[in-house]
Amino acid sequence: MNTADSELIMGILNGAGFEPAHTLDEADVIILNTCAVREKAEARILGRLTNLVPFRRLRPGLMIGVVGCMAKHLGDKLVQERPYVDFIAGPDQYRNLPEMIRSKRRKAMIQTEFDRSEVYSGCTPTRPRGVTAWVTIQRGCNYVCTYCIVPHVRGAERNVPAADILSEVRRLASEGFSVVTLLGQTVNSYRDGDINFARLLRMVAQVEGIEQVRFTSPHPLGFSDELIDVIATEPHVAKFVHLPLQSASDSQLALMRRKYTFEEYQAIVRKLREKCPEIAISTDIIVGFCGETEEDYLKTRQALIDNRYAFAFLFAYSERSLAIAAKTMKDDVPAEVKQRRLAEIIDIQQKISKEIYTSYVGKRVEVIVEGYSRKHAEQAVGNTRDFKTTIFDKGDCEPGDWVEVEIDSATSQTLVGHLVRIIRKSGPIQVQEQIEVGISLGPTES
Ligand code: 5AD
Ligand code: SF4
Repeated sequence: MNTADSELIMGILNGAGFEPAHTLDEADVIILNTCAVREKAEARILGRLTNLVPFRRLRPGLMIGVVGCMAKHLGDKLVQERPYVDFIAGPDQYRNLPEMIRSKRRKAMIQTEFDRSEVYSGCTPTRPRGVTAWVTIQRGCNYVCTYCIVPHVRGAERNVPAADILSEVRRLASEGFSVVTLLGQTVNSYRDGDINFARLLRMVAQVEGIEQVRFTSPHPLGFSDELIDVIATEPHVAKFVHLPLQSASDSQLALMRRKYTFEEYQAIVRKLREKCPEIAISTDIIVGFCGETEEDYLKTRQALIDNRYAFAFLFAYSERSLAIAAKTMKDDVPAEVKQRRLAEIIDIQQKISKEIYTSYVGKRVEVIVEGYSRKHAEQAVGNTRDFKTTIFDKGDCEPGDWVEVEIDSATSQTLVGHLVRIIRKSGPIQVQEQIEVGISLGPTES
């Protein structure tokens, strides 16, 4: 989501005449787009800000901005503690960035208000050319999971009109993008009139030129039979679902206000696997949330073992001051217990992922080529229909092609193989290196 927001910010700035810088040394403005979901993410940004101080000394006119969820979370406090931060913009204030930069005020500018209708209509993200594109279909979140800061920094849910999403996807397809990932905090709560998420997903999958559609993240509540049917039957929808569980203990789920029981979650997993046997499922888990007993934890550990997720994002609970739990519950699981539980499940999941990935060795899989390996120029990188990242000697295949790859080895995250044949070629696509940092003042400014 942050990558998509960075592309949106780049688009807004490009549209206002700014150009990307290729190194930090060249940049007249440096913007850090941030996450606030766990304390660690914020700590990392604070570290990066410290690293930027020397640049500021070398270039007195350099502007430094902090945008996104952490900007909204910390606001004034951030400017007080880091006086060299020139501007701060929350997730609904990106349209104001060109003006904030141009005003070149010496006093820090802080814009973090919510705008309940902002979906950035008419703003075109600047994406690196290639095969894969993020498409934001929803901003904000209407759930109030007690551990979570997101609704407090990104505001209430709003959905991008379906007509806008479809015209964006058609445009992307015409530019050679053939893999899109639909993004929203709870994508399956998407609705625009009578178009619900299942219908939208089907329509996107049927856009001419689109080969794979992925989406993240759905919430288990409202994961409908209709959606399962679209995933199972639409050939261009990836056979992959990220389905956050968080905990397998019903009392923890209730404290977290997740709005489902473990059995309700399991019913979705069973249905997905029954209707779509080739489906791969991944998840998010939090251990050490308020009041988590050893018994609660063991239930979660067992669910991880039983569900055999392809991969999982595993976290120790991190208290966030704006979230409900920080105000009403005690963060009472000792840090060492959280870390022990986390280390245990990381170990278990790594073994399961390795087993699952290794089971592909000797098999042939269909892969859509998404780019080339950064480390080895002669290798291509793509994904299987069930979203397994695959690396192989590229031969004469190109990004966008569907290829058949025979798998020779596997890690817990990657399949490694060799090209058997090109199944279908795509049109010529230019793949561009991702621009990572910085922008410089463009021609309209000079
Ligand atoms: N502590 C730890 N993990 C969290 N997540 C969200 N909030 C917290 C928190 N306070 C995790 C959840 C969510 C993922 C994006 O981050 O598992 O699904
Ligand atoms: Fe946070 Fe829950 Fe919304 Fe996900 S659904 S963003 S965990 S409040």
